[in-house]
Amino acid sequence: MAIDLLDRAGRSRRRTATVFTAVTCTALTLLASSCARSEDDVAADQPSGDASARAQQLDEAAGSDQTCNIEQFGMEKFDLQDMTVGFSQSEAESNPFRITETASIEDEAKKRGVELITANAQSDFAQQISDVQGLMSQGAELLIIAPLNSDGWEPVLAEAERKQVPIVTIDREINGNPCEDYVTFIGSDFVEQGRRAADQMIEALGGEGKVAILLGTPGNNVTTERTKGFKDRVEEKAPGIEVVFEQTGEFTRQGGQSVTEQLIQSNPDIDGVYAENDEMGIGAVTALRGAGKQPGDVKIVTVDGTKTAVQNIIDGWIYAVVESNPRFGPLAFDAHESFGKGEDVPVELIISDRVYTQENAEEQLPNAY
Ligand code: AHR
Repeated sequence: MAIDLLDRAGRSRRRTATVFTAVTCTALTLLASSCARSEDDVAADQPSGDASARAQQLDEAAGSDQTCNIEQFGMEKFDLQDMTVGFSQSEAESNPFRITETASIEDEAKKRGVELITANAQSDFAQQISDVQGLMSQGAELLIIAPLNSDGWEPVLAEAERKQVPIVTIDREINGNPCEDYVTFIGSDFVEQGRRAADQMIEALGGEGKVAILLGTPGNNVTTERTKGFKDRVEEKAPGIEVVFEQTGEFTRQGGQSVTEQLIQSNPDIDGVYAENDEMGIGAVTALRGAGKQPGDVKIVTVDGTKTAVQNIIDGWIYAVVESNPRFGPLAFDAHESFGKGEDVPVELIISDRVYTQENAEEQLPNAY
């Protein structure tokens, strides 16, 4: 299929979609292996419980057809091996998602012998901006950023452009122009995660009931899209389900617990809780337990795939968990490597996630993080 693309200078380029399939199945080393192997093959031979278990798989049908290469970007080719990479983590490493994500980046740098410098903004956006600027002044020539917020990156983008430092963003998006402000975004389809969470909630409640949403932090595309996917699907498939309560639990366990405590006061007859990440869902379990509820009294659906959340499915407290895989190291380094060689890199790389349910939780627990 032929499609029109705009390059960095705004010129229209005509490419064929098969180019991108070829790119995603050959240029990115990790993807080359994931194209040939099934998820179960990969899961079966990985050690469990660390950053290398259940490697990310790209969803071939999702993502953008647009690509970016170093010529469009206006830079000289480079060898990843000779470069210093800076990694900026957004949130504290108390959440297993963040622990696993950072470990995956660090493990991959070590495996490839690439120099890595890191910073953690501890959920402070001003800190993250200064962290990334600090990484560049410490000599980072390539960046991997897990952004806290999607907007407000202008000072970093301007400096990265001036210093010619290509950016790969992971897990949340930076609002900007692909192949101008950044090379590629790697992450999940968050609208689809919301839809899948809704499917589980609809099944759990038999299509009827009152539901609360524990929202993630505001100001990023993950929260917006997980909310949209959930609400749209419920509206479309289960008009008998009513969303009666929505409040942010800031993606933290403590936040999920205190918001659920308020929820139980205002809506003691709540039937379901959709927590937009596992940490908030686990906090909700603590609040419900404290209020004398039994496992399964309130149906809880969450997103991420942490070991504690999947164990909570086995224990009957959580109905289902939609996976969001944080093992970004291999794909993020592959993207920088391919870009440095002058290859076309898709400007959006969407990974495929699974769902943990009562049927598979025990068997799949080793793939949780
Ligand atoms: O951006 C990814 C989300 O952020 C994860 O679901 C969550 O655990 C984290 O706080």
